[in-house]
Amino acid sequence: MYRLKLALLAAAITAPCASAQIQNDNETMEAVSFLFPDFCCTALSLSPLKNRLLFPRQEAYESRIDTYFDVKQQSITPNCIVQPRDAKEVAQAVKTLTVASVLKPCKFAIRSGGHTPYAGASNIEDGVTIDLKYISTVKYDASTKVVNVGPGAQWNDVFSVLEPLGVITTGGRSSTVGVGGLTLGGGISYFSGEHGLICDNALEFEVVLADGRIVTASKTSNPDLFTVLKGGNNNFGIVTNIKFRTFDYDGMWGGLVIYPQSKESMQDHFKALINFSNNYDKETKGSAIVMPVYQSAVGSDLILNGYEYAAPISRPAAFDEFLAIPGNISDTTGIRNMTSLAAELAGATTSSVYFGTLTFANDLRVMTKAHEIYLDVLANLKAKATGEWGIYVLYQPLPPAYYRGSIARGGNVLGLERFKNKVLCLYQPYISWQGAQQDALFQKAGADLVNRIDAYAKSIGADNPFLYLDYTDITQDPLASYGAENVKKMKAAAKKYDPFGVFQTLVPGGFKISKVA
Ligand SMILES: Cc1cc2nc3c(=O)[nH]c(=O)nc-3n(C[C@H](O)[C@H](O)[C@H](O)COP(=O)(O)OP(=O)(O)OC[C@H]3O[C@@H](n4cnc5c(N)ncnc54)[C@H](O)[C@@H]3O)c2cc1C
Ligand SMILES: *[C@@H]1O[C@H](CO)[C@@H](O)[C@H](O)[C@H]1NC(C)=O
Ligand SMILES: *[C@@H]1O[C@H](CO)[C@@H](O)[C@H](O)[C@H]1NC(C)=O
Ligand SMILES: *[C@@H]1O[C@H](CO)[C@@H](O)[C@H](O)[C@H]1NC(C)=O
Ligand SMILES: *[C@@H]1O[C@H](CO)[C@@H](O)[C@H](O)[C@H]1NC(C)=O
Repeated sequence: MYRLKLALLAAAITAPCASAQIQNDNETMEAVSFLFPDFCCTALSLSPLKNRLLFPRQEAYESRIDTYFDVKQQSITPNCIVQPRDAKEVAQAVKTLTVASVLKPCKFAIRSGGHTPYAGASNIEDGVTIDLKYISTVKYDASTKVVNVGPGAQWNDVFSVLEPLGVITTGGRSSTVGVGGLTLGGGISYFSGEHGLICDNALEFEVVLADGRIVTASKTSNPDLFTVLKGGNNNFGIVTNIKFRTFDYDGMWGGLVIYPQSKESMQDHFKALINFSNNYDKETKGSAIVMPVYQSAVGSDLILNGYEYAAPISRPAAFDEFLAIPGNISDTTGIRNMTSLAAELAGATTSSVYFGTLTFANDLRVMTKAHEIYLDVLANLKAKATGEWGIYVLYQPLPPAYYRGSIARGGNVLGLERFKNKVLCLYQPYISWQGAQQDALFQKAGADLVNRIDAYAKSIGADNPFLYLDYTDITQDPLASYGAENVKKMKAAAKKYDPFGVFQTLVPGGFKISKVA
């Protein structure tokens, strides 16, 4: 009997195409588990990927796990990590795991930069992590002004290639964040006012589908797949290359400014942000983030603002109202470049982190109430939390300029067009702490902020349904927030490109379109 199973396994591993339905009978699974406790990794080690595997207790495995942004993701221990070198090897990994799943489900995670903070987004317990670390080449073609980027690249890899050439693309604002995850969730850049969201600057994706086929998705090739990848994240395939458009660039102005925080000063900052957002269409080169901050190690309530301008012009007029606020205690603004601005926001990898998000009207009443609720939640944390911890709440503009050009470029599924001409505010608590025993306390703080502020916004009709996937907590439902029409598009594409639901059932991490009603 075991010989038969082994023959099946061998057939599975060498099969050209995995289209078998994943339906395991318990008896077979028991036998397989008995024979190969580490069945899925065994399957990979019998495949041509045998030299691409890392196992627990190997130094390379441990040090790779340590590069997850969040400690909760670092404490997950996959049975092995597979690190393919190109799309063909990704296809091999997918085929091996799906075919082996005929005998026993081989669950896997997809990792690019590993910067999602909730556990299990891009790592997996008792499964295989497909790590795109080595698919990270950045190659610029001056004749087409297109840059090819492997999803495993970090944004600093992109900037350091482009910047010396006098061109740039819309990219993340932090050097260490991955290209893959950020782009497939939307992507907000300092250049988004002029050039739109990062996903809408992708001209073409190379994608490994569930059956191991390698296809391109663009405006002209598999256009339905092209659209749903932009916001639909890991529901359709594994992206192995992205072609981004670039544009001329000769530097930036910007940096971080820290102010003392009081109820009154907070009002000045909110008012400045509201006017800045409302004036966005007149000055699309500007970006601003207003952030009330508390860090236990510092022990005082502060406001940390980011100001950036997508040209090397000192203190542009768009920031006049912010620049008139007196009393800052630290200011790094100046003529800078993307590499240096992104390095200033590099993420540390030593804390457990909560991200959550909410969108509401660009309305002073909501911001004022949101800050009241923040002070209440903060007081509770100050009373109960131990060790080093911190809380930042980001308020940033979500203006029509970010999505006005999207449809002409093939569209995305975020559904922002629904809010035509409404200037919105994107809200994100970013909370960090030490120790799993405090997870519940801090997760609840994040959820309290989001839920209480949402309830208030609803009570005055200033709410908005959109949830930005790149900031959402696992308890939120960003895909549903894109609206019924986009949910339909994503469900149709998932059915067409992944008829057996590999990315729904074998890849549990992330937000699953099959779970959306
Ligand atoms: C310090 C910091 C700064 C940030 N700055 C910004 C910012 O400026 N703008 C912004 O919009 N967001 C920002 N974010 C949010 C960020 O976009 C998300 O955390 C994003 O998910 C990170 O992408 P990643 O590749 O590093 O993450 P990962 O955790 O590796 O991936 C995220 C999700 O995408 C899936 N995925 C990744 N790669 C692929 C692929 N190739 N094919 C299919 N699925 C894939 C994964 O399975 C996972 O579910 C920031 C986050 C941090 C921590
Ligand atoms: C098979 O079924 C039994 C009883 O329901 C369960 O305890 C066991 O975990 C199952 N085996 C596998 C490999 O899933
Ligand atoms: C970007 O700025 C940094 C810090 O000032 C500098 O060292 C680097 O050379 C700059 N890069 C480019 C391409 O100008
Ligand atoms: C900000 O906008 C408000 C309301 O439109 C206006 O009254 C105020 O003068 C503006 N402030 C500045 C400094 O432009
Ligand atoms: C910060 O304060 C200094 C000293 O008062 C001032 O010169 C500078 O312009 C301020 N920066 C900003 C961004 O307001």
